Amino acid sequence: MAENLNHYNNEIRNFHTDKTDELDQFRLKFLGKKGILIQLFEKIKDIPPEERKNYGKDINILKSMVLEKVSFLKNQIESSGDNNIETVDLSQPANYISLGSRHPLSIVSKQICDVFKKIGYTIAEGPDIEDDWHNFGALNFSPEHPARDMQDTFFIDKDILLRTHTSPVQVRIMEKHQPHLHVVCPGRVFRNEAITARSHCIFHQIELLCIDKNISFADMRQTLDFFVKEIFGEERKIRLRPSYFPFTEPSAEMDISCDICNGKGCNICKNTGWVEILGCGMVDPNVLTFVGIDPSVYSGFAVGMGVERITQQLYKTKDIRLFFENDLRFLQQFESI
Ligand code: DAH
Repeated sequence: MAENLNHYNNEIRNFHTDKTDELDQFRLKFLGKKGILIQLFEKIKDIPPEERKNYGKDINILKSMVLEKVSFLKNQIESSGDNNIETVDLSQPANYISLGSRHPLSIVSKQICDVFKKIGYTIAEGPDIEDDWHNFGALNFSPEHPARDMQDTFFIDKDILLRTHTSPVQVRIMEKHQPHLHVVCPGRVFRNEAITARSHCIFHQIELLCIDKNISFADMRQTLDFFVKEIFGEERKIRLRPSYFPFTEPSAEMDISCDICNGKGCNICKNTGWVEILGCGMVDPNVLTFVGIDPSVYSGFAVGMGVERITQQLYKTKDIRLFFENDLRFLQQFESI
């Protein structure tokens, strides 16, 4: 290296600091707009042509020495964390906090309860773990009814089980309160069933109970009409089919036209164009008697509906398993609701 450049060489080699501001000064001294290196480059034109090549090489060596030194010391200062200088970058955008959202089944369950609240119903809840009496006996299930079979019911012991429907909440309400009763009971239910696109061992129901003087099947039909129009819109068709439940007489099942395939037939409606969404009927006089309500004075209706089925119809989801897998790609689609 040329004689006159040597002392820069030594200065760079011997420079050391653990302060960011001193390092900055050093950097600007050599690399700044009016720094030593720029000045040295500018002098090239005054150097005799035969020495220019070596001179240029030397300045480039000095430049890389400064760059290396700055980067080395910068790393050292940062890793020691002791530079007395505020390192928080206040201009950085804040971290995005992603908001959680309600589960589609909770959204729909609330929508349904709200419809009934509008017409005077109040919300009631019961336990997930029930006894045989509330789940079956008081609902007029004979001792040998197939629904009591181990295949459908998760028994905890001989008399205790996971409720297979929300109907026991009716019993609990009627045991405690005399009419008039207008309650809506949302809850989780359990059945020992294979998990497929259409069925699951855990699902959700909403039960409706209305007991008063002079309540008729026509009152029930009108209540259900109102409910379907509120939830699915004026256009959706319904049909009531005669059915059987031990705790209602007469009993019916209600279907709505399948909106997923527009009546053409799909795996959700079993290719019929109709989807059953609820069971209903007039509360059996036996049930009223079991809970101490006089059936010669009072009558009423009860309804039980599947929240998953209704949610599938509303959001056109074809596989019930999606509701239980907690896949964020599915759940995030309900963020704005
Ligand atoms: N508990 C019945 C079930 O899970 C559904 C049901 C049908 C409830 C008729 C009712 C009713 O209240 O009246 O299959």
